[in-house]
Amino acid sequence: MIDPAFIEKFEQIATPFYYYDMELLGHTVDTLASLSRKYGIDVHYAVKANVERRILETIAGSGIGADCVSGNEVRRALECGFPAGRIVFAGVGKSDREIHEALNAGIEAFNCESLHEIYVINAMAAAFGLRARVAARINPNIDAHTHKYVTTGLFENKFGIARHEFDAMVDLLGRCGNIDFTGLHFHIGSQITEVRDVFSLEARRVDEIISYFEDKGLKVDNVDFGGGLGIDYEDPDSCPVAPFEDWFRTIISGYRRRPGQRLHLEPGRSVVAQCGTLISRVLFVKSGETKNFLILDAGMNDLIRPALYGAYHKIENLSSCFRKGFSEMQAYDVVGPVCESSDVWGQGRLLPLSVRGDLMAIRSAGAYGQVMASRYNLRDFAPAVFSDELENAPHFIDYFKRL
Ligand code: LLP
Repeated sequence: MIDPAFIEKFEQIATPFYYYDMELLGHTVDTLASLSRKYGIDVHYAVKANVERRILETIAGSGIGADCVSGNEVRRALECGFPAGRIVFAGVGKSDREIHEALNAGIEAFNCESLHEIYVINAMAAAFGLRARVAARINPNIDAHTHKYVTTGLFENKFGIARHEFDAMVDLLGRCGNIDFTGLHFHIGSQITEVRDVFSLEARRVDEIISYFEDKGLKVDNVDFGGGLGIDYEDPDSCPVAPFEDWFRTIISGYRRRPGQRLHLEPGRSVVAQCGTLISRVLFVKSGETKNFLILDAGMNDLIRPALYGAYHKIENLSSCFRKGFSEMQAYDVVGPVCESSDVWGQGRLLPLSVRGDLMAIRSAGAYGQVMASRYNLRDFAPAVFSDELENAPHFIDYFKRL
């Protein structure tokens, strides 16, 4: 819920912008860090969800590690205070340059996604006279019951090493003189809301796979179950902190932890989604032949999730609470300004009667929002504004007071 005192301050800021509630982020991160200690599960924040420096610094400050998928993410994580020994590096296509930099930085582990990658990392480590810590990402063939674009753990997906290569992998690791094998990594998908069903299946499947490797003589000191915990997009205020404890318990109870083994999780969305809101304004109200349109100044280039995945984000009119008679409701198709028919925030959304200049909130936008923005139509990037720095927010304007 956005504090009305903040809404008055938003009036002064040029839209669109990403607003981050740093109090909620702090609370979320503290909850996660204390559960990590309680259950003895290491947490690495999936940096790809949001790379704003202040957000990364807050997360790093709580002792949580980082899960990165590019050399630039590794560099950013280091700059923002994550120790190298707490950074893992995943991704199916790491370039030689990225591998080299991460080797030099001495990261916790490369999560390797193919035998070819293990081979190349070993060769590069040997060439530079270094040792590489390597975990193998396994494709466990589990249906995460989520959108097909964010499902990663099925045989048809490009991620992870497939079952038929397990024996060859053990053999290869035995021949890699510059690799220290650290363990196995899994990640089955994102925005998983059937927490108990899906993650208990993952925990059991991981258990079977680890037994298979142990029988082959491989010692698995670390098991990383990946990320994927879903959040409530429909009603972000009902559960602002994701059900982390449910997730931790499901993993702990479905998996038989071996003595001395360390377990890891990699949440991204569930850490940062609810603290972020895309703030926009109504530019125009248009009455179409069959519907009413609210045209906002934020578009699909600012937040592509609705256009790309048909994702739902709750939309609120923040200005209406300051108006008398704001209870009158109207159904709108809320759209953006980009020249694409898919630039739609929501169809038939019931909202208070809205007028030009109204501030609109597109909720749960902290994860995979700003990081996936583009400059399509040569539009500007929406900047970040933090709740504890509102006074210094950029771009003060007063157009709407004059027109
Ligand atoms: N670990 C790995 C290896 C991953 O690939 C991901 C996300 C995560 C952890 C974090 O997953 P999370 O906890 O955030 O679900 N752009 C999409 C989401 C793509 C997720 C990619 N991988 C969206 O906007 O829904």
